[in-house]
Amino acid sequence: MNKVKIAPSIFAADFAYMGDAVKMLERSGADYIHCDVMDGAFVPNMSFGPDMIAAIKRNTNLPLDVHLMINEPERYIDRFVKAGADIITFHPVASKDTKKCLDMIHEAGIKAGVVLNPDIPLDTIKDYINDVDMILLMTVYAGFGGQKFIPDVLDKVREARAMIDASGRDIMLEVDGGVNAENAVLCKQAGANVLVAGSSVFKATDPAEAIAGMR
Ligand code: DX5
Ligand code: ZN
Repeated sequence: MNKVKIAPSIFAADFAYMGDAVKMLERSGADYIHCDVMDGAFVPNMSFGPDMIAAIKRNTNLPLDVHLMINEPERYIDRFVKAGADIITFHPVASKDTKKCLDMIHEAGIKAGVVLNPDIPLDTIKDYINDVDMILLMTVYAGFGGQKFIPDVLDKVREARAMIDASGRDIMLEVDGGVNAENAVLCKQAGANVLVAGSSVFKATDPAEAIAGMR
């Protein structure tokens, strides 16, 4: 089975102790820090913005995987780049021009990806297969942590894996939402190679064990 990377979502941390959370993730063997940015418009919840990303960046060498759940992400890409994002993903349905967004991210010298909520078909991104470094498939509807994993999305993960393999390109396939030790194996079998996990890491008595268990 392919080697998977674990990207804990810092959105599940206690915001009063973000520095501690970052250090805990480093000690626990996280591969990336997943940063969920919510604008209260594209999704009915708010989280944090570029200043928080910059603060996290100052405290870690782990790559930051920034998931934008915001309308017209093109307006803010440069802010997140300056803040220290290593990967930026956005929802094409929220963007006015997907290709332009991907180009803006690449021109900044970092990796770019597209995100699909469970009800958005894979077909909608097939034209961008040569322009993405990551495809993020939501296994819950974006907007809140702690939701229940939607197993129906696994078919889409398999389809995406086939699409990526057929492209011959090195594209990360990430899943996000309700991922835990039980369903991680299904995600991996379906072809995902980056697993986001919020609650299952931050609510664990031993986060290092939770991360190792998913890997
Ligand atoms: C949902 C976010 C997820 C979420 C993950 O909108 O994109 O990254 O916070 O948290 P859990 O693992 O608790 O679903
Ligand atoms: Zn996310």
